[in-house]
Amino acid sequence: MSSTRSVTITDNATGKSVECPVLEGEYGAPVIDIRTLYRELGMFTFDVGYGSTASCRSAITYLDGEEGILLHRGYPIEQLAEHSSFVEVCYLLVHGELPDAAQLADWEHALKMHGMTHEHLSRFYSGYRYDAHPMSVLTGVVGAVASYYHANTDIASEEDRMLTARRVIGKMPGLVAKIYRYASGLPFVYPDNGRSYVENFMYMMYSWPTEPYVANPVAVRALELLMILHADHEQNASTSTVRLAGSAESSPFACVAAGIATLWGKSHGGANEAVVQMLEEIGDVKNIRQFVDRAKDKDDPFRLMGFGHRVYKNYDPRAKIIRKACHDLLEEMHLNQPLFEIAMELERIALEDEYFIERKLYPNVDFYSGLIYQALNIPTAMFTCMFALARSAGWIAQWTELMRDPEFRIGRPRQLYVGAAQRDYVPLAER
Ligand code: ACO
Repeated sequence: MSSTRSVTITDNATGKSVECPVLEGEYGAPVIDIRTLYRELGMFTFDVGYGSTASCRSAITYLDGEEGILLHRGYPIEQLAEHSSFVEVCYLLVHGELPDAAQLADWEHALKMHGMTHEHLSRFYSGYRYDAHPMSVLTGVVGAVASYYHANTDIASEEDRMLTARRVIGKMPGLVAKIYRYASGLPFVYPDNGRSYVENFMYMMYSWPTEPYVANPVAVRALELLMILHADHEQNASTSTVRLAGSAESSPFACVAAGIATLWGKSHGGANEAVVQMLEEIGDVKNIRQFVDRAKDKDDPFRLMGFGHRVYKNYDPRAKIIRKACHDLLEEMHLNQPLFEIAMELERIALEDEYFIERKLYPNVDFYSGLIYQALNIPTAMFTCMFALARSAGWIAQWTELMRDPEFRIGRPRQLYVGAAQRDYVPLAER
């Protein structure tokens, strides 16, 4: 994992140099270890948006944005999407290996045993306005879960960390479903441990108090697929937030809440909601060119939502899988989805356009995910909660890895100060 390669950084003004070791991972660009830079040269590095900075060592997820590759613990996302279940992927992310049959059964059972939340937590929801944004509620309720687990959340204990992982993954479906039930004026539903993880979530979302609930297996599989594809994605903004909060030794539930707050933004998890709003605004295939022109106009802040990615400069591998799943789902459920038609045509036009080709702007995972959620009757405002439900597996796996890291220390980026030079306070009367 390390090499004898090094990079010498010389300050031309003083002639002083520092030799920085180059570290090699299993895959990906080697990294320059600049930890001695400040001590030796009295300088920091400048990297707005951390586009060139590796913030940690991680063995969970690898992605190659140029080649469009995504691996979880070494397994290609295409294989996991085809053969695995969300629960199994969670096990893989948290434990590092695929489970055998007994381990998988134990894991599934353990997640079910943690599916309930304290009854008082249900009352927390009623503090929100009926039309509160679901991500605002989710940020709050996940943070509130911390208040029930002061005990048994010793972040230095591996046993407690695994218990926390089971709690987070086990409780998220119920926490998310309650947001929908509260907004819809429906009673909360307790989990039914006779159902699978994903089906149970749908049951808690959609079952009617007076009717038996039978889930549509096509819908369950589509949701399972989306959750697998969203389970983890390396050191993105929300995951880095979870790690930064975790580095301060905060409650892991609060760290996940911080991740949810970051995911909410439309440049990140909020994109799936923004895509559907944009497709609705386009309204008709004949209006697409006008929107593409707006996206290219530097004087117009409009961007094509669901296009572009900080890391993928090739087709997002998850978008490929989702595009097909979206097509299959709409066909199998006999749904006429005009937005899907607009999306496919928009994709075709954009991918042939010089502006998008030059900038390597391809559809990302969220270009199609919103259409699947819509076909599953999930309200648009809930889309990012669905993302958070799946991503909490990755967040807690990344948090666990951070807690085990022998190089663990509080995260503390530096800055280039460009403000006023020191000056004296002027009394109010003299200003
Ligand atoms: N529409 C039009 N132009 C775009 C788009 C877009 N969606 N995305 C990037 N560009 C242009 C930029 O204007 C810029 O052009 P320039 O070189 O002429 O100035 C160039 O492409 C590079 O863009 P950056 O902003 O530097 O790319 P960055 O890596 O910082 O941003 C981001 C990535 C935030 C995802 C951006 O592509 C975007 O805003 N996309 C739309 C929102 C979206 O879909 N977000 C979801 C991301 S995936 C996820 O979180 C799951």
